[in-house]
Formats: sequence, structure tokens, C-alpha cells
Amino acid sequence: MKIKWGVIGCGGIAYRRTIPGMMLSENSELVAVMDNNFDAAKKVKEEFGAKYAFNTVEEVLALEEIDAVYIATPVFCHKEQAMKAAKAGKHILLEKPMGLTVEEAKEIAEYCKAQGVKLGAGLMMRFSAYHQKMKELISAGALGNIVSMRAQLTCWYPEIPGNWRQDKARSGGGALMDMGIHCIDLLQYISGTKAEAVNCFAQNQTFSYSADDSAALLMKMDNGATAFVDANFNIPDNAAKCRLEFYGTKGSILAEGTISQVESGKIELTTSDDTAEYNAKQNRDTEDATCIEVVTGNMYEKEITSFANAILNNTEPEITAEDAIFVQTVVEQAYAASEEGCCKGV
Ligand SMILES: NC(=O)c1ccc[n+]([C@@H]2O[C@H](COP(=O)([O-])OP(=O)(O)OC[C@H]3O[C@@H](n4cnc5c(N)ncnc54)[C@H](O)[C@@H]3O)[C@@H](O)[C@H]2O)c1
Repeated sequence: MKIKWGVIGCGGIAYRRTIPGMMLSENSELVAVMDNNFDAAKKVKEEFGAKYAFNTVEEVLALEEIDAVYIATPVFCHKEQAMKAAKAGKHILLEKPMGLTVEEAKEIAEYCKAQGVKLGAGLMMRFSAYHQKMKELISAGALGNIVSMRAQLTCWYPEIPGNWRQDKARSGGGALMDMGIHCIDLLQYISGTKAEAVNCFAQNQTFSYSADDSAALLMKMDNGATAFVDANFNIPDNAAKCRLEFYGTKGSILAEGTISQVESGKIELTTSDDTAEYNAKQNRDTEDATCIEVVTGNMYEKEITSFANAILNNTEPEITAEDAIFVQTVVEQAYAASEEGCCKGV
């Protein structure tokens, strides 16, 4: 049996990644697409062979045959569309961040629960084979106790007139909300820890839009580790390696390029048995590092298949609304910390 999908918002991520992923998914079928720019919906219908193209949400939701919707519209549209979908009894895979604020995200989650529909969050980077492998190694104790971590995601995003993402009122936030959210989620997910306190500098260094173009965030995790996130809209695409690093009392896992929309990059594992005593030589031979190979796939296909399975088997989605709400709480507290110039609890 296949889950029949309606897609709400056929722009950037839906067109470029998630719909192609849905086409690969064995338990899913694209039935209807909708965009308030009707030309975009019609183009996607033609290209991917959907049955229907619409330019109102109501038309998608009126289709009895649709089981679930994937919402990939600008953040300020999420709440209204998700509430309508829940009211119509459709399960919802909602892009990150779920709402403009934590309060909005909680309202959506509560309403979905009351309506008896499943709500999943678009934190698809968890499905990367690299990230799964890192999680597996860390939970098997390969690094000992995790003491320090870092995640970086950047792009070059100069002013675009009318752009919703650069307008804090329509996006909820800039580099930190848009990109940092993946970094925070990955650090917590892979290490199996949760943020307890956060400090942050979110600012506009380069561009004059109302959303932050750069953010540096420091978290204290519930196991005592510290974690650093850097998210920028003002570093050229080819200049950053989007590093993801975990350090423990027995070694490290260092990744480059895995925080991405495609499953690519590399990870290196270094472990040390030489920790019994202080060694004044402070040997930093990099020859000990082992490149870890993984079998890569398509994160968006896995995301769609996983959510469809939750519907088919009546189980919790693998990435829950609560997961996304917690990460957004960290982001919201980080913005507050930046504004108030002090550390905030999560
Ligand atoms: N998980 C990921 O990899 C990832 C990557 C990028 C974006 N996103 C998230 O996906 C969402 C969309 O981002 P994007 O980059 O695709 O944006 P986008 O601006 O490229 O595309 C948004 C689309 O929604 C349409 N739209 C606007 N208002 C609408 C409305 N009221 N009803 C229906 N359609 C409407 C636009 O015409 C456009 O086609 C955001 O929440 C964003 O954070 C996730």
C-alpha cells in the first residue's frame, strides 16, 4: 500500500529535493501539487506526473484520496496551512521551522494531536548515512565521553528584494533559524545529548535585511559537553566546509561537507588508547585517522518513506514535532541570549 501525497508549496526545496525524493520512495505516490503561483504547480505536475495541480490549499484538502500533505511554503504560511490540513484529517510532514515561533509550533502540534493526525518535522539531515554512522559510533562508545562538538552551515545569501527568508517577520529568523536549526538538531541527535543552556551572538555583519546574516551559538549540553554552532548567510558557498565535529575522551569524529542537501562529504575517526597519562610530546599525528565509508542514498526519499511508514504502521514519526519544538526552543533562547547579552536556559 502507498501513501498518497499532496504537496503544498512547490518552490525551492520541494521542487529541487523533496518531490524527487518522493518519486523514489516505494511507499509513496505524488497525487496533487499546490502553489499560490499556479505556474509553479503546473510545472511540477507536468514534470513529475502528478494527477492534479491547484492554487488553493482547500482544493488539495478536499481530495478524499490524499492521505498526507508535505508543507514546504514560507514559514509564515505554515501555521494556517497545517491547521487547515489537520482539520481536514490529513497527516502532515511540515518543513522546518514548524512555525514562526515556538508558540506557533506548539499550537500546530496540539491541534494535530486533537485531530488525530500525525505531524512530522522536516529535519531530514538525520537520515544521512554519514550522520547515522556517526551516531552509531558515538553510541557504541568509540569516542568515550563526548566533551566538545561543533556544527557549521553557511551559504552566500545577498539581499534579494521581497525575499521572505530575509524578512524576520516572515521567516522567524535568519541564518540561525534557517540553517543553525539543522546544526543544533544534528549535534543533539548524533551525540544523544540535549542542550541545557545557550549563549549566542546573532547579528547582521554584511547584509542589511532584518533577519540575522550570521550567528555563533554556544550550548552547554546535559552531559556537560559544550557545543558550538556557526550559521552564516555571508560566507561564499565554496569557502565553507560545513564542518561537523565530535570530540570525546577517547577520540574524535570529524566530518566535512555532510551537512548538506545531498548525502556526500567525508568522515574521519581517530581513537586513542594512549590516555592513561599526560604525554608532554602532545603527539598530533594525523596518520591515526581512519576514513569511514558509508553507503549513501537520498535523505529526502528516506524522509518521505519514514513518514509514510509511520502512517501505514500507525507509529510515531521518526522525527517528531516535539523534536522540532525543542530545537526551535534552543534557537529562540539563543536569540534572547544574543539580545539580552546573557546565557539562557533551555
Ligand atoms: N529541509 C531542507 O532541506 C530545507 C531546505 C530549504 C528550505 N526548507 C524549508 O522549506 C520551506 C520552504 O523553503 P523554500 O526554500 O523551498 O522556499 P521557496 O521560497 O523557494 O519556495 C516556497 C514556495 O511556496 C510558494 N508559496 C508562497 N506562499 C504560498 C502560499 N500561501 N501557499 C502556497 N504556496 C505558497 C512559493 O510560490 C514558492 O513556490 C521553509 O520552511 C524552509 O525553511 C527546508
